[in-house]
Amino acid sequence: MIKSDNITWHASQVTKQQRQTLLNHKSAVLWFTGLSGSGKSTVANAVERALYEQQVTSYVLDGDNMRFGLNKNLGFSAADRTENIRRIGEVAKLFVDAGTITLTAFISPYRADRDQVRALLDADEFIEVFVDTPLAVCEQRDVKQLYAKARRGEITGFTGIDAPYEAPEKPEITLDTSAQPLEASVAQVMTYLREHGIVP
Ligand code: PPS
Repeated sequence: MIKSDNITWHASQVTKQQRQTLLNHKSAVLWFTGLSGSGKSTVANAVERALYEQQVTSYVLDGDNMRFGLNKNLGFSAADRTENIRRIGEVAKLFVDAGTITLTAFISPYRADRDQVRALLDADEFIEVFVDTPLAVCEQRDVKQLYAKARRGEITGFTGIDAPYEAPEKPEITLDTSAQPLEASVAQVMTYLREHGIVP
């Protein structure tokens, strides 16, 4: 729902397709989703590096980072997570319009929220990347010691422990970072982008 009255949409004089032609690649969102510690940010950042080395412009929007700025007023309730993903979806859409390959690394635990973002974009512009690392592996890594805190009850509503994670049903890409090295996950994503004509 739009709250403002008396607003008008101003169309740009340069189209997304024209921007893509200038850049020599298409734009899309690689929407990484998975548990905390699954490797979303690690893979997204490595893909950004691989794209840069091929002279392709991309940008990573990262869950933790966005909560320092744009989303600093949001916590981890179900409603706040939904608003978090809604805002990032809108930002990602703007980035795609600007011609950038956009990588987002958010737990995004609710299927409906991810599907709302998918609906914002053209069919070939939303690439859901399920980082399907088992909970036991994420918990064993526990880089930020958050699982330990959640198990001790010092954090409540922690995804995978006492808050839900709804796995994608038909993701475009599935990665298991516990079953293959980082380079293989990066190669899997790069192959998808090439095979779908997003990068040359
Ligand atoms: S969400 O669910 O998409 O809105 O979450 P996101 O914005 O990606 O933020 C996830 C990071 O926040 C830290 N953190 C928590 N995660 C899950 N549940 C709870 N309660 C929580 N509290 C803090 C955690 O470091 C997540 O980082 P990642 O990179 O996913 O490990």
